[in-house]
Amino acid sequence: MANVKFYGDQQYPLEMHKVRIIQKLNLLPVEERLGAIEAAGFNTFLLQNRDVFLDMLTDSGVNAMSQEQQAAMMNADDAYAGSATYTRLKDKVTELFGMDYFLPAHQGRACENIIFSTLVDDGDVVPMNYHFTTTKAHIVANGGSVEEYLYPQGIDVTALHPFKGNMDLGQLRALLESGVNVPLVRMEAGTNLIGGQPFSLQNLRDVHALAKEFDVPLVLDASLLQDNLYFMKEREEQCRDMTIREIALAVADACDIFYFSARKLGFARGGGILIREEEMYKRMRGLVPMFEGFLTYGGMSVREMEAITVGLEETMDYDMISHGPQFIEYTVAELDKRGVPVVKPAGGLGAHLNAMDFVSHLDQREYPAGALNAALYLTSGVRGMERGTMSEERDADGVEPLANMELVRLAMPRRVFTLSQVNYLIDRVTWLHENRGLIGGLEWEEEPEILRFFYGRMRPTSDWPQQLLAKFREDFGDSL
Ligand code: F0G
Repeated sequence: MANVKFYGDQQYPLEMHKVRIIQKLNLLPVEERLGAIEAAGFNTFLLQNRDVFLDMLTDSGVNAMSQEQQAAMMNADDAYAGSATYTRLKDKVTELFGMDYFLPAHQGRACENIIFSTLVDDGDVVPMNYHFTTTKAHIVANGGSVEEYLYPQGIDVTALHPFKGNMDLGQLRALLESGVNVPLVRMEAGTNLIGGQPFSLQNLRDVHALAKEFDVPLVLDASLLQDNLYFMKEREEQCRDMTIREIALAVADACDIFYFSARKLGFARGGGILIREEEMYKRMRGLVPMFEGFLTYGGMSVREMEAITVGLEETMDYDMISHGPQFIEYTVAELDKRGVPVVKPAGGLGAHLNAMDFVSHLDQREYPAGALNAALYLTSGVRGMERGTMSEERDADGVEPLANMELVRLAMPRRVFTLSQVNYLIDRVTWLHENRGLIGGLEWEEEPEILRFFYGRMRPTSDWPQQLLAKFREDFGDSL
């Protein structure tokens, strides 16, 4: 958002766009919300969207489009092969990121399938700043394993490091010197699972130089690059006087392969891989027609491709990309002021509640983040996402690992919510925090073997949801 100073004491994030297409929201009475969360097995993935007021489950595929994107979608060239839509997208990514070779794919995990099935073999070790769920699944499926070399501050929820997504170079060097086979080094921009935390341009350049010394390609997961670019400009001295476009090119210059989910980067839906070397491109190319579609659409609709082309250009506009991080920063600062435990400093993607402290009376085996997430829906109609032990997988012996962090992620889809909606969220979270003693635990009613957090069903361990509802009525009267 532009540099606008407020005359009053408080500085607010100011939207630099106006809303011209709307979707009416539905806020159910609290009794009906209890019915909805019970029907969803206390799992917010299983809620019906019509029962949700503010959908903060994810920022994936739900960002607001601009009128320029919608206009471009009307001008798409539908052809199986050689469409002008593809050429426009390819020219745009080459212009912005300076790499000559581009492979389209239908979303981020499809890019991961292509990259990791080409590069990863049995026994390989893939170092990264931190894993993402789909990334790790693809590496493991190809016989590899993941090593995470975050700075120690990365998983400390309140350590005020500006670049908690940075990679530790000492650990990376030790692995590269150890003799195990390392097919690639992966860096994730706007590191998702630690709270949307960025890495610095300098750290990326240092990791790249080290990887090069050992002739190992650096692969960037740029799905959350938009937020990372903003933080580089705001927090890194050497980026302060660079434009977003210059920073984006500098980031891409420090990578050999660059992939992204356009459900996040580019305000649309789709994905793609940029590759510097022709030989590498040829190794991966064959997998696109096999899994995605012909090389000039890769499983995407041409309309979405046009929207991505325009959306990527909008990503170079500081006013456009600052909406998310500034709204998140505001949310985190306001909650922090009210004593609510949150991940600090504010990252990209969303605000994150630290359930380990919020409901510290719950044991980790009662799923504190899952319980808090269900309680928040009941209290407010806001749908967040559990990022804690529920999101872990049992090991081969059926033992359940306890997550490093118990977070409730409140995603801020880009350009979607208004500040009064965010203020409503802050108000209800504050009320819930003051009544946190009423929140009880959850247990499994139905636990799927694979990715249980998506469609598993839970039940409360007592009648705590009814008690929370009664307190809500006592405090809010007949308010929704
Ligand atoms: N990499 C990162 C860093 C992601 O955050 C995601 C998706 C992917 C890859 C996979 O991309 O969904 O297009 O296949 N994150 C979503 C989320 C699902 O809600 O955080 P995809």
